Order: sequence, then structure tokens, then C-alpha cells
Amino acid sequence: MSGYLPVDQRRFNRNDDSFMSDWIVVANVTDLTPGDFTVIPADDTDIAVFNIDGSFFAIEDVCTHDGGQLTGGGREGCQLICPRHGARFDIRTGEALTAPAYEPTATFPVKVEGGIVYTRDDRWD
Ligand code: FES
Repeated sequence: MSGYLPVDQRRFNRNDDSFMSDWIVVANVTDLTPGDFTVIPADDTDIAVFNIDGSFFAIEDVCTHDGGQLTGGGREGCQLICPRHGARFDIRTGEALTAPAYEPTATFPVKVEGGIVYTRDDRWD
């Protein structure tokens, strides 16, 4: 896992007809290779975007046990391990898999267009 990648982050205007909504640039596909992840700010939260075996997944970088940052504790397959108390989350679904976390963390849509990975916080649509 490589961590934070330098990316050119641009938020697209909701009124720009070339985009359906406020998709956020995450990274070039070539910069987010299998096993990598990056964390990008999105409004009031951070979104962690993972490349797992060529598939992209985005989850809120917040542990539902105590509200701390979820990334940084390691990953085993599709499981992200909280660095604080070891709760595990499924990166694909956000599901809390082990105590002391019981509530899922949010997941977000991801798309790849023109060699760029995008995500968006769709919770308030
Ligand atoms: S803050 Fe994540 S397990 Fe406690």
C-alpha cells in the first residue's frame, strides 16, 4: 500500500454540462496501481480510494468505532484494518467485520473515464 499520491484534484462545477454531477478527480489510473490507495478530501470528509486487483473502491476514511482515520492500519485483501483498535472493514461494501466497530462506513461510487479515476460523495443527492 503506497498511501497518499500526488494528484491534480479538481472539483467539477455542478452546472457544467460536461459532467453529470460533482465528480472529484482521484488520480490517473496509471498512478493508482493494484495494491495502491489514496485519500482525497471531499467536502467535510476524506474518501479513501483503493485499487484492489484492478478494481476501484471508495470508502469514507472514518472508523465508525471512534471516528478516527481508518487508513494507515494496513490491508489484508479486501479488509481494511483500523490503526487504532483493529476493527476490520470490507473495502468493497463498507461493512464492519469485527469489533469494536459495528456500523458500516460509507462507500462511494467510482468511475474511470479517459484514464482518470473519479469518485463523488453521493450521500446528500
Ligand atoms: S477507532 Fe477504529 S477500531 Fe477503534
